[in-house]
Amino acid sequence: MKKVAFFDTKPYDKIWFEQLKDKYDFEIKYFESKLNSDTAYMARKYDAVVAFVNDNIDANAIDVLYENDIKIIAMRCAGYNNVDFKAAYEKVHVVRVPAYSPFAVAEHAMALLLTINRKTHRAYSRTREYNFSLNGMIGFDLYKKTVGVIGTGKIGQIFMDICKGFGMNVIAYDPYPIKDKGIEYVELEELFQKSDIISLHCPLNKSTHHIVNENSLKLMKDGVYIVNTSRGALIDSEALLNAIKTQKVGGAGLDVYEEESDLFFEDFSNTILQDDTLSRLISMPNVLVTSHQAFLTNEALQNIAETTLDNLKGFFEGSLLENEICYQCDKKAVCEKDHKEKCF
Ligand code: NAI
Repeated sequence: MKKVAFFDTKPYDKIWFEQLKDKYDFEIKYFESKLNSDTAYMARKYDAVVAFVNDNIDANAIDVLYENDIKIIAMRCAGYNNVDFKAAYEKVHVVRVPAYSPFAVAEHAMALLLTINRKTHRAYSRTREYNFSLNGMIGFDLYKKTVGVIGTGKIGQIFMDICKGFGMNVIAYDPYPIKDKGIEYVELEELFQKSDIISLHCPLNKSTHHIVNENSLKLMKDGVYIVNTSRGALIDSEALLNAIKTQKVGGAGLDVYEEESDLFFEDFSNTILQDDTLSRLISMPNVLVTSHQAFLTNEALQNIAETTLDNLKGFFEGSLLENEICYQCDKKAVCEKDHKEKCF
């Protein structure tokens, strides 16, 4: 029986992995610690590692895993910007769950938008104190408003469909546009200029880092709403905070935050938060922060557990590692997956 070291465990992670592990014949040890260069040694008696979005899988962490004979890291998430793929190449294979429930994330993006627009987060607090006043609660009709979607992959497409259901005018930007789906693509600058609402659904990489920044904010309409369910560093948080203070931005729904890795998924309610930008953002009446929970539905958790265990089973059985990724995957001629069934 193969032994798996599971990092950054929360009670909700275990539910589906515990139900499925016997079927796959794995023994799983759940560690609460995040995976990083200091904790990687904990995997020394195991055959594989399961990691998550806020683990720091840098070159040092990879070296420690490699020295301890770990041959595979199974990311139980879609995003992988926290893995040093160059360092992992030819040492440790990395697999992921490419999609667990794009519906979960797209629906959460719409929940954030509806909340910041119709102020239901404030109504909840008010009515609990028998404050039934409507002052400061005015929203706008989403109907006929223009939403700009950045990234038209799995989640972006579902979000666009949801928006169309609301009668919204949808425009999109993606460097790899999809043909024949009736998506109205525009240049990024035009999207910034024309959108009443902007929702981010692209991965974090060099070209998207701080895609919302001081300069792009200047191009946007006054009072624009911004929704981010993708990765925190797509937005320059300081620039967003300034734009909220000057009312350039009318509202923001943020499921992710640039510096979330030491904060999100933990309870800091008894401590003094040291991150002034996040504190200030949270204090704004027109900002709603959720702690990277867009994926958190039963359906997604089940898919994550099944795909992660399938990935590990495939690796140990030597079958095609469809969900493996390496830094050369986009260079088909160099990546060896097509003929070796693995990237290296
Ligand atoms: P996907 O890979 O299906 O789609 C991403 C799209 O972004 C692709 O169409 C790609 O061409 C496009 N893209 C790449 N570079 C771009 C750029 N410079 N500008 C605009 N678009 C660009 O990914 P999927 O499944 O739709 O996920 C999107 C993002 O959502 C992920 O990268 C991940 O960061 C985030 N995510 C967040 C979750 C949460 O719980 N908050 C859960 C799952 C994913």
